[in-house]
Amino acid sequence: MKNAKWISINNENVSKGVNPWENVITEEIRNSDTVRGKGLPIFRKVFSADNKKLNKVTVKATSLGVYDMFLNGKRIGNDELKPGWTDFRKRVLYYEYDITDIITAGKNCIAGVVSPGWWMGRISLGTYVNNHTAFMASIKITYEDGTISEINTDTDWKCTIGGAILNADIWDGEIYDARIDNESWKYTDFDDSNWVAPFIYDEFKGEITKHIGPTIKERPFLSLTPKKITVYEGSKDNGSDFGEINILSVLNPGDSIELKKGLTCIIDVGQNMVGWPRFKVKGGSGTTVTLRFGEMPNDSGDKKRGNDGPAGSIYSANYRSAKAKIYYTLSGDEEGETYNPTHTFFGFRYIEISADDNITVSSFKACVVGSENTETGKIRTSNDDVNKLISNILWGQRGNYLSIPTDCPQRDERLGWTGDTQIFVNAAAYNANVRGFFHKWMQDMRDSQSETGAFPDVAPRVRVVGEGGTAWADAGIIVPYVIYRMYGDKDIILENFAAMEKYMNFLKSRGYQGGNHSYGDWLSYEPTEKPYIGTCYFALNALYMSKMCKTFESDPFYSEKEKEYIALYKDIKEYFCKTYIDEDGKLNVKSQTGYLLALKANLLPENMIKEAADLLEEKIKNNGYKLSTGFVGTGTINQTLSEYGKSNMAYSLLLQTGNPSWLYSVYQGATTIWERWNSYTIESGFGDVGMNSFNHYAYGAVLEWMYKYMAGIDTDVPGFKHIILRPMPDTRTKDELPEGQSNITYVEAEYESVSGLIKSMWKMENGSFKYETQIPEGTTATLYFPLVNKSIGDNLYINDQVLSINDLNNVKIELKPGKYTIC
Ligand code: BGC
Repeated sequence: MKNAKWISINNENVSKGVNPWENVITEEIRNSDTVRGKGLPIFRKVFSADNKKLNKVTVKATSLGVYDMFLNGKRIGNDELKPGWTDFRKRVLYYEYDITDIITAGKNCIAGVVSPGWWMGRISLGTYVNNHTAFMASIKITYEDGTISEINTDTDWKCTIGGAILNADIWDGEIYDARIDNESWKYTDFDDSNWVAPFIYDEFKGEITKHIGPTIKERPFLSLTPKKITVYEGSKDNGSDFGEINILSVLNPGDSIELKKGLTCIIDVGQNMVGWPRFKVKGGSGTTVTLRFGEMPNDSGDKKRGNDGPAGSIYSANYRSAKAKIYYTLSGDEEGETYNPTHTFFGFRYIEISADDNITVSSFKACVVGSENTETGKIRTSNDDVNKLISNILWGQRGNYLSIPTDCPQRDERLGWTGDTQIFVNAAAYNANVRGFFHKWMQDMRDSQSETGAFPDVAPRVRVVGEGGTAWADAGIIVPYVIYRMYGDKDIILENFAAMEKYMNFLKSRGYQGGNHSYGDWLSYEPTEKPYIGTCYFALNALYMSKMCKTFESDPFYSEKEKEYIALYKDIKEYFCKTYIDEDGKLNVKSQTGYLLALKANLLPENMIKEAADLLEEKIKNNGYKLSTGFVGTGTINQTLSEYGKSNMAYSLLLQTGNPSWLYSVYQGATTIWERWNSYTIESGFGDVGMNSFNHYAYGAVLEWMYKYMAGIDTDVPGFKHIILRPMPDTRTKDELPEGQSNITYVEAEYESVSGLIKSMWKMENGSFKYETQIPEGTTATLYFPLVNKSIGDNLYINDQVLSINDLNNVKIELKPGKYTIC
């Protein structure tokens, strides 16, 4: 793109009258505080392609802001929200498209439209710039005779502030006026004589590099249609502060919705999700339809239950300052008009529609939009609530992996919080192939790393949010390690090695207490000392670094580094023991998370390990079989319990339904994972509105446990070249079952690893354990077979082979590719 320039339009052009659309903006829209520009910057250029035969035509394009691009009226590509989010202080990504099929010999028109996006929309918190969006494109035409011509953005282009998208913002939504011609400027014969020349924007100091990782797409296989449509008029008294909505009718899901002026309808798509609606609407020209979004309905109309409106209406207080709205003004087409926004996205399950005149809405669809990570995992159990939890976790990932891994997709945040990311990344890597996605995000991490070596607390970095947060910034080590382990991807280590070393040096400079500040065990029910978490994470980082170095041990540089990190780990362990183990040989940090981290990072002396695991188990039992952990502890609780032989307790936590527990939210009606264990309770309503997302995947980390331990699909040679099968069935006896719980009796899991499809399925049948597995070609596996109700001398049947059991603690079966039934 070296010959292309950033082109921009001066906002002054608006007041100079370049914008022809002002008069047609409706009163309501004009008064809305979301209208800033009355149209988006549009850039266009008419150019000629020779009549010589075309061999190949490509366009590379990017923007400061979010762009869409058209050639001769056709949208180029089907990627959404380009160019995604990067640390724009350092980098923006360009996308390349083959346009050979849509270019014509003779005159052509290329046009780009740019909204503020992540570059200067509200979400950027003014980090990168405050003034202009900009566009850059470079078309390369290669003719059959080998000649090449280029069309690049420069001052020969024409631009205006205009188009039907009056405004768009990631947090706030989109304002669209369909009366405004949004088509003809995409074609060659449009008269652009009153458009102006762009100016060259030269304030961007970063690099322009090719997009890596999956692009953002609409994902049609996931789209949702209405499950329930409720039409109401105002509210009526029910004894609460806001009353309840006055329902006029409940329509069948497929019905078109006749919405008279003054009426409101609420569509429930049955699933909290991320994307945008697409719908057809009929009505008079100039009628404005307003859409609001929500994850939950108000349940009673009571303020003391956190409600922000009448019972049955949309609850949106938890979006905080994000307006998350669509205003669509109809052109009045008698055939109806179909619309979806393209420069924003929403996190929602409920959509409220109202209009300032009569309309009919039909063909309503909720389109799921996100980074296109191919899904690779399936897991199902005998317990429907657990199955719902699994679905909730997957939907959380679908929604929150959008260009970057976000904490949540709906409120005025949607940031790449590093802590949430590292806690969930392993579960995510079972759900989908996220390798490319995290190569891209680690690029953001490197770009956002500070001079001191600290990785940021959110990547891409934004102003206000800090860096070097314990268990947050550590994502810079943990994410590459997990991606390496899951995909055998050595490149992720090499690409990030220098940055990881810089970070480790930063940690070393801080002593033994981890990063330069700490969020602690965020949102836990029981506190854990922050420096303690810091030490444990420092140790984990050193351990992971040593393992990553080992991969390259034939190279003296890395074998030396490996030794250094092993030594560092030992040193931290020594400090840990000195500081956190009392003279009586007991851990002096007594929280569940305290025990978990010590065990996970293997920081206890040999003789304390069993006792610590037993104590942890005891603590959970004494807590009514409930966890008390926040983000940090929950990220590893079941995994660590299973690692130390406490899988039965992991099952008791999994199947717990009281507060706090994973199934508690399922019982309160969740369709995604919530930010808090009690984001909403049937008993007392909504949790603290200051921070109450209903789509926050961090606690979904338990899915890692389900794949790795419950179903038992793991690897000891990165990338599943050698598979470890270690299914851990629910062997709790009647006496051990917490009240109200019953056993999980079967699990079926499959994982499309980079080495092929792995299946693992078990069933408890009349007290005996039956296992089926499938191992892909080109791999080998070791199965650690759990002996349930077996004694020495009993037989195991592996397909039709017989194996006599002679060691109850160690049934290790080596398997070649193929399908096996073992019982
Ligand atoms: C985010 C979290 C994040 C946290 C940092 C919150 O506002 O939503 O998920 O990790 O801040 O403590």
